[in-house]
Amino acid sequence: MAIERTISIIKPDAVAKNVIGQIYSRFEAAGLKVVAAKMKHLSRKEAEGFYAVHRERPFFNALVEFMISGPVMIQVLEGENAVLKNRELMGATNPKDAAPGTIRADFAESIDANAVHGSDSLENAAIEIAYFFAATEVSAR
Ligand code: TYD
Repeated sequence: MAIERTISIIKPDAVAKNVIGQIYSRFEAAGLKVVAAKMKHLSRKEAEGFYAVHRERPFFNALVEFMISGPVMIQVLEGENAVLKNRELMGATNPKDAAPGTIRADFAESIDANAVHGSDSLENAAIEIAYFFAATEVSAR
């Protein structure tokens, strides 16, 4: 299986709940390695740019407001099948639909304050990694 890299973002609700370590433990238990990380309070422009694909969606403004409401923890995860593995750890977008034991089932409040972001494809993972990290900030393989 291919070694992949993906972006994970621990959103403001989960950072405020002080569960960064608990979420990192789940990455580690699943064999995903943190190879770059930064805590950042996103500007409006950064959040709008990150979620540009959702610009026309009705929830776009609320999503941006939420993402800039406090600091986020952004990490690059590396491992076998990392994109899908991280999506499985996260659970469904709406925590009401998220499988038991997933991050969103355990830590998310609602569909908008849903604890984590994860790249949804290898192609988007590469775009999102480059959006937040310089090549020199990601540890070499
Ligand atoms: P999406 O890419 O559909 O979900 P995921 O984060 O699981 O990849 O949506 C991006 C974010 O937009 C989602 O995490 C929370 C927010 N959102 C809403 O607030 N309301 C909605 O109805 C949807 C679909 C998403």
